Amino acid sequence: MKTAIYPGSFDPVTNGHLDIIKRAATMFDKLIVVVLINPFKNYSFTIPERVKLLSTVTENIRNVEIDSYDGLLADYFKDRPEIDVIVKGLRATSDFEYEFQMAHTNKDLNPRAETVFIPASATTTFISSSMVKQVAMFGGDLSNYVPAEIHGEISAKLTAEFAEKKRLADIKRNQ
Ligand code: PNS
Repeated sequence: MKTAIYPGSFDPVTNGHLDIIKRAATMFDKLIVVVLINPFKNYSFTIPERVKLLSTVTENIRNVEIDSYDGLLADYFKDRPEIDVIVKGLRATSDFEYEFQMAHTNKDLNPRAETVFIPASATTTFISSSMVKQVAMFGGDLSNYVPAEIHGEISAKLTAEFAEKKRLADIKRNQ
């Protein structure tokens, strides 16, 4: 039985993430998608919200489990000895340096933590969570970027966040 872990911020999950999840789920007996924290990022969605969105879009993939962890990926890996490998998606050469550094750091912290990279599909290679957030904040069409069943939740959250940003900017301008 081979088990892989697919870590990320998933703020929010996109069609690009879902493409990697679907393909990795055919390569391993079990795939654990885990929401982790990059302390240098500002997130729009809470961890429970990100877990819920991931659970919704993967509910029909029988060997996928969703989890979250507030700590180092290398420690999560240590806590779950059944995990064999870390899976990451690579969209472009611009991802490579950062992903390569993370893969080495994870292996340095836990020598058992090997990373394998899956190239993004040609149709999703340009999609990122931050691009999705911008489109959603301006009320754009999300249909090519995130699964239809979570459009409503993503739009509602991000239009509210954008309205709040504008309100705070207006207050600052008028001070
Ligand atoms: O989707 P992202 O933002 O590129 O994912 C990055 C993430 C969250 C997987 C990474 O920041 C991470 O592993 N965070 C947990 C803390 C950790 O282990 N950091 C050291 C790895 S260099």
